[in-house]
Amino acid sequence: MPTREVRQHLLRLLREAEDGHVSGAALSRTLGMSRAAIWKQVEVLRSRGYRIEAVPSRGYRLVEEPDLLTEELLRSHLEGCGIGERVVCFDQTDSTNIQALRLVEEGAEEGTVLIADSQQAGKGRLGRAWVSPPGVNLYTSVILRPDIPPWQAPQLTFVAAVALVRAIEQVCGLSARVKWPNDVLVDGAKVAGVLSELLADMDRVRAVILGIGLNVNMTREQLPETLRYPATSLALASGRASWSRLRLACALYRQIDELYRVYLDRGFEPVRLAWEASCDLVGRQVQVASGDDLLAGRCAGIDLDGALLLSGGGATKRVLAGDVRPVD
Ligand code: BTN
Repeated sequence: MPTREVRQHLLRLLREAEDGHVSGAALSRTLGMSRAAIWKQVEVLRSRGYRIEAVPSRGYRLVEEPDLLTEELLRSHLEGCGIGERVVCFDQTDSTNIQALRLVEEGAEEGTVLIADSQQAGKGRLGRAWVSPPGVNLYTSVILRPDIPPWQAPQLTFVAAVALVRAIEQVCGLSARVKWPNDVLVDGAKVAGVLSELLADMDRVRAVILGIGLNVNMTREQLPETLRYPATSLALASGRASWSRLRLACALYRQIDELYRVYLDRGFEPVRLAWEASCDLVGRQVQVASGDDLLAGRCAGIDLDGALLLSGGGATKRVLAGDVRPVD
């Protein structure tokens, strides 16, 4: 077995150890290697930031894993997950969505994910910039290649938004909510956004790129100043100094994987229901600023193509883009 795979296997055994410890003898038996060879691989892992304790007569214990967004770490936490089959990491890039478009043109497969420590030209919705400083947040793009017609592609934005809500709840225990079309809020302030981009022929999707930005450990000073909506980070919203970006990224990819499979099996309906259940505006009076128009009505959920449904005066209006806020 190549040494890289040996280390992955070793890490898996340490992570799964029932009382935390695995004896050198047990590792040696399972991996078919001498105890000295195992010690050597433990040393390699230590040099990469893993804290592994060696207790005489009990064995090895994994005390802490490094919180780095590297291909090796991400891959080792994403075994069996279709999203993250291939991981491309950048210290710095223009935009993971731009790089994803490039990879799609080169034939990158479904499940390829790109992740950057910082972006110099991070793109937000409606041509806005996405503030992307290093060391604090998640900036990632996921490549999907569903066999669907182009009009259905916006449905996948909702897969990403629901997956974000679930990952935030799972890792941080915070209650997150969605806001149409693609925002995720904690305590009413925006913590994440999704920018989906589509490559399609007339009748078939070639690829959908889910670009996801999640403010994880940004400080108040680092938050973008905007009058449109209040913004926050998971650290600020929880009062904790920091959250593991690695854990959040892996939880996010696993949640996308799970919901995307449901979507492929059963269509948009379960995703739509999950999204509406996470949305505080459904059933309430709202106002939508859409271009120069200001529309008002009762939010009746989302349509099959992701349009916002506004009801009022016996009719239902469909809104394709805009910023929505409650008025009741
Ligand atoms: C929004 O405006 O709410 C959407 C923001 C999406 C930002 C992410 S960060 C990773 C990916 N790369 C980009 O350039 N944009 C998306």
